Amino acid sequence: AFNLKNRNFLKEIDFEPAELRYLLKLAEALKLAKYAGTEVKRLEGKEIALIFEKSSTRTRSSFEVSAYDQGAHVTYLDPSGSQLGHKESIADTAAVLGRIYDAIEFRGNAQTDVEALAEHAGVPVYNGLTNEWHPTQMLADFLTMHEASNKPYDALRYAYVGDCRFNMGRSLLVMGALMGSDVRLAGPADLHPPKDVVDLAEDIARTTGARISVTDDVSGAVNGVDFIHTDVWVSMGESKDVWTDRVRQLAPYQVNAGLLQRTGNPAVKFMHCLPAYHDTNTIVGAEIMEHTGMTSGLEVTDEVFQSAASIVFDQAENRLHTIKAILVATLA
Ligand code: CP
Ligand code: NVA
Repeated sequence: AFNLKNRNFLKEIDFEPAELRYLLKLAEALKLAKYAGTEVKRLEGKEIALIFEKSSTRTRSSFEVSAYDQGAHVTYLDPSGSQLGHKESIADTAAVLGRIYDAIEFRGNAQTDVEALAEHAGVPVYNGLTNEWHPTQMLADFLTMHEASNKPYDALRYAYVGDCRFNMGRSLLVMGALMGSDVRLAGPADLHPPKDVVDLAEDIARTTGARISVTDDVSGAVNGVDFIHTDVWVSMGESKDVWTDRVRQLAPYQVNAGLLQRTGNPAVKFMHCLPAYHDTNTIVGAEIMEHTGMTSGLEVTDEVFQSAASIVFDQAENRLHTIKAILVATLA
């Protein structure tokens, strides 16, 4: 076992590969215990602040239910309900919350904000998504790929297609490097991760044996993979001005039945951190589709999203078990 007490989780490289494996094992055990009704509460008396500068369904719910399952309490702070950023600096907010809470979750724009929070809080801080990284999502994604394939983490083969320069593309690249997987990112060159992120992943891959590639060749990237991941083409915080260009650039990278076929793997699975724009049943998705003339979904077609290949709701459920593992490992 590993002692991860009081550790932050701000980005994937905050943990060694062996520590990430330990967190994933702990998540599996917690999932089994919850299913069996044998879960032991190890966080009684703990108080956790959840700061959300951007909206959330899965991450917030998973932190809240994890805390309640384990006997802890949470306070949800949204941007309009706290002074953070408007009337009080991150440093001062961190110092105050660190006196009141045992841990803090933060979702916002800049990675530097969650880093500043961690520097001044004196208690563990968890990154619930920034523009740069989505580390808690990575534990859920890796647990889901492991469960769906029965393969060890270093035997996983996956492609991420679409906008590779934002949180999900970057995190899937670096997490795959840490876990020794075969990772391919495919998207237009303008939307590749910055060079420092690719260099980081390549450095890590040299020590873990991971195979990583970043390309604009989507057919080459998906060849032989067991999983295709994608994410929204327009992320939270981006303006409407990018819609037209973004959709034009990314249309060749849509996950549709044809792309699944090009893997050559009839058992290939589809993954998405969600929320997804696969039909017109969301206000924003419908607006982007109407604005750009895309009729059959944006980053993924409804056909693929609803197909037997889609494991997006297993993936979403695993947010709960993996976030619980982080809380138990760092606070119990
Ligand atoms: N995948 C994810 O982070 O979902 P939410 O934005 O709903 O938390
Ligand atoms: N890239 C998306 C992920 C949402 C979970 C965003 O940042 O909006």
